[in-house]
Amino acid sequence: MSSRLILPENIRKLISGQLPEVDNTGLSGASVYVFEDSVLKIEKISENNDATVEMMMWLEGKLPVPRVICCEKDSEYQYLLMSRMPGKMSCDSYYMERPGLLVRTLAEAIRMLWSVDLSGCPRDRNLETELKEAEYRVEKGLVAIDRTEPSTFGDGGFKDPEELLIWLENNKPGYDPVLSHGDFCLPNLFMDGDRFSGFIDLGSAGAGDKWRDIALCYRSLKHNAEGFYGGRVYPGIDAGMLFDELRIKPDQEKIRYYILLDELF
Ligand SMILES: Nc1ncnc2c1ncn2[C@@H]1O[C@H](COP(=O)(O)OP(=O)(O)O)[C@@H](O)[C@H]1O
Ligand SMILES: [Mg+2]
Repeated sequence: MSSRLILPENIRKLISGQLPEVDNTGLSGASVYVFEDSVLKIEKISENNDATVEMMMWLEGKLPVPRVICCEKDSEYQYLLMSRMPGKMSCDSYYMERPGLLVRTLAEAIRMLWSVDLSGCPRDRNLETELKEAEYRVEKGLVAIDRTEPSTFGDGGFKDPEELLIWLENNKPGYDPVLSHGDFCLPNLFMDGDRFSGFIDLGSAGAGDKWRDIALCYRSLKHNAEGFYGGRVYPGIDAGMLFDELRIKPDQEKIRYYILLDELF
């Protein structure tokens, strides 16, 4: 851990004497330190901080999610100490080499989300909320175009994030609310042995459309199988297997819509 980092007293006491591993998997810019039984995630202060912790606490006992051990803030950062999820990320080569197990387990995780009763859910991530946040990000120039799909912007795609936002506002699909993880990608879904272990990275979780997670899961399977992040290529994985496991027909329009919406985040 960087020696310049000054941790709040309560957090420091709880992790005292333990040497962390630094995790560089995430793309959010947060710093993540993994200890034997706990994980410390340090994020810049945003409007999202409290809602994330509230959502994690609401989900405790309903779904396998990290338990909030302690959460502190200073003027710049939020320090979230949570329990460590057992097992490995589902993009680990063990699972990528076993497409049947991987896709079956991801489908099971999606169905677990759908089984949660939404009454009392503290966070609404319906399309209006998402589009409002997307609008803010576009206005402030926060969209990372270099991290989007190559086909989204430029030749044959949208001119710029503004044009995409207008398209999204004019092409809203119907709304089918379920509990949505919001960033349903393989590094955020843990497996232990041959079983699903739990959901991490809950900063975008809330009541949201059913196709939001399906779309992001489909894209993540495809990206991880194609070696999009510089890793190995796994030709045995066909992301379309997800629909067979979920026993639903892919709604290509909604999948496209939610992948495009996520480009603005
Ligand atoms: N509670 C946890 N248990 C185990 N590993 C974790 C936990 N939280 C984070 N990690 C590890 O750190 C990585 C990045 O954390 P994450 O919360 O997903 O950050 P980001 O928002 O940057 O994606 C994860 O993909 C995972 O490997
Ligand atoms: Mg993550």
